[in-house]
Amino acid sequence: MTDAFALADLLAKNGQSHLLEHVKTLDGAAREIFCARLAAIDWAELAHPCEPPAASKVAKSRVLDQDERNRRTAELATRGEAAFRAGQVAVLMVAGGQGTRLGSSAPKGCFTIAPHSGKSIYQLQAEKVLSLSRRVGKAIPFLVMTSPATDAETRQFFAAHADFGLAPGQARFFSQGTVPSIAIDGKALLAGPGKLLENPDGHGGCHTALVQSGNLKRLSDEGVRQIVYIQVDNILAPVDDAVLVGLAEAENADVVSKVLEKAHPDEKLGHLVKVDGRDRIVEYTELTPEQTRLRFPDGEIIYRWGSPAMHCWSVAFLDRLAKRGFKLPLHRSKKPLKAWPQETTGWKNERFMFDLVPEAETSVGVIIHRGAEFAPVKNASGDDSPATAVQLASDLYAGWLRKAGVRVDLPAGARIEISPLFAATEAQFLTRWDKRVAAVTGDYYIEA
Ligand code: UTP
Repeated sequence: MTDAFALADLLAKNGQSHLLEHVKTLDGAAREIFCARLAAIDWAELAHPCEPPAASKVAKSRVLDQDERNRRTAELATRGEAAFRAGQVAVLMVAGGQGTRLGSSAPKGCFTIAPHSGKSIYQLQAEKVLSLSRRVGKAIPFLVMTSPATDAETRQFFAAHADFGLAPGQARFFSQGTVPSIAIDGKALLAGPGKLLENPDGHGGCHTALVQSGNLKRLSDEGVRQIVYIQVDNILAPVDDAVLVGLAEAENADVVSKVLEKAHPDEKLGHLVKVDGRDRIVEYTELTPEQTRLRFPDGEIIYRWGSPAMHCWSVAFLDRLAKRGFKLPLHRSKKPLKAWPQETTGWKNERFMFDLVPEAETSVGVIIHRGAEFAPVKNASGDDSPATAVQLASDLYAGWLRKAGVRVDLPAGARIEISPLFAATEAQFLTRWDKRVAAVTGDYYIEA
């Protein structure tokens, strides 16, 4: 039973006493549930969101550029491959976002994306894990973070498709928490009678959720050392990446972050840089257009390395942070909010996974080819939409075919699709390609 006096005190201290008026309108169980939720919220942190760091002391992060990557590929791949085969690697996909820009009410992962097979984003991601598991002869744990907004539908979707062929229990679902959305004046809002307006607490909710769900301990007990982290909405995000894992192992890194050369200074990405001696991802929203064009004295662009939100996290690092009681800060962004009784504009509060980077003792970046690994699905149309992601995937597969000696000459609108169960990487494709055609001149699809 919530202590009414303590709750009134807590709300008063944090400028939320208006919620007590709503409490009075509720009876019995509804009242108790609402009060218990109010008492559980960290109101103080909502009042003090994270400030962007002063970009005064910015230095270069250690990044494996293309030359160093080329030189070390064989060594790192061997090391990563050994970790995969020893069962020391898991894949984690965050899929708790509301996907508001895409505009579908279902979780983004349920979206039908593949041009010929009609596979969903979830199926493509799951098949990549399945393909990797088959290749290395181990059921690689596949952790899927959902949120109250996506949990039930995600579980049902996987169940309805027999987990897309994964071994029973290989997909491990766990839900992140929520945090109140607030009005511009900082006051909490309602979603309905007896219900606070809340949103999933950002992909950064992943750290706490991994700990509280018991999944981090389970991985640790199983001897898993590295977590390959992807976001559900990047359909090309590789999971079978021995170079990434090998680098994490070779450098004993707390985190390895993939980076790419930005397409233009104003590209909407975070940037890997060192601020005050620590690597961090500085969001584009934290920089002015002038800052994004600044250079180091040697001429290199300061905000050169864009972050496509793919990392390899060390299990020991995440565990160390949890034991230290580390909590990721909240960031706020202005959004239209579905408040009750009236919609309004206010602050959505979220934690970001990349805010763990400055906590790392050892952090390193590694360059990737954008076209091979990055095809985000954010918007319903235009940039970063299903259409652009499908086009990027088709371009990638055309490149694989050309490398294998196939003539590819596609008319406008034709698309190539290659199932991850046939090949999830270029290397796998080149090994498996059986010269079944000499030319591709229209829509083309390869299943396993
Ligand atoms: P985005 O920041 O692009 O948000 O998420 P979104 O929710 O998918 O889309 P919009 O902004 O509402 O249109 C990037 C990744 O982080 C995950 C998303 O599922 C996506 O994989 N994410 C985001 C979470 O897992 N939880 C969150 O609370 C937010």
